[in-house]
Amino acid sequence: MGVKSTNITAVQHRVPKEARWRANRHMGGVLWFTGLSGAGKSTLAFELEHLLFDKGYQAYVLDGDNVRHGLCSDLGFSPHDRSENIRRIGETASLFAEAGFIVLSAFISPYREDRLVARTAAGENFNEIYLSADVSDCEKRDPKGLYQKARRGEIPEFTGISAPYEAPIDPELVIDTGKLEVQESLEILLRYIEQRFAMPE
Ligand code: ADX
Repeated sequence: MGVKSTNITAVQHRVPKEARWRANRHMGGVLWFTGLSGAGKSTLAFELEHLLFDKGYQAYVLDGDNVRHGLCSDLGFSPHDRSENIRRIGETASLFAEAGFIVLSAFISPYREDRLVARTAAGENFNEIYLSADVSDCEKRDPKGLYQKARRGEIPEFTGISAPYEAPIDPELVIDTGKLEVQESLEILLRYIEQRFAMPE
């Protein structure tokens, strides 16, 4: 998206990002969870946030259902609104990452192009994590009863039923949440974060 304002000038922060990393003893960045509703994005993100916090990490979850009550309360689920949702979250995640946080973002983010926009906004340390539970796995669980509603035609444009989900082609990490227990997925993610966000030598 282009910049609409004129007469604006970017200003430099006085605290370099490396100084924030040293203070936190880890790098900042984004873990971008993507997958169907019910694939486990929020469950894993919130569990991980808690685990990381207890280990002294600066980590923060951005979650679809929450953000849609505030920052994105004007948006629905049309393709255009989903793109705008992800654009705003991508920019927000980028700001948190610059502030030194490990952002755990939990959005369906069904379109590849939109996820690329989020990746570009974050600049570096962006990690696309595909939770690959398929529709039948998610529909069996149906934690919010939304698949049932969608099958009855009560939710238009429901991802996986009447709206598309474009699986990542080359994500940094794939976790088959259709097969793995929450605890197993968490261990994989913890190991990944410990390596990926370690301070550079
Ligand atoms: S996204 O497609 O724009 O990335 P987002 O992650 O913010 O979606 O919101 C998805 C959540 O909204 C789902 O977990 C579900 O609880 C709820 N939801 C309500 N309507 C829909 C719909 N039509 N499609 C998918 N999820 C929906």
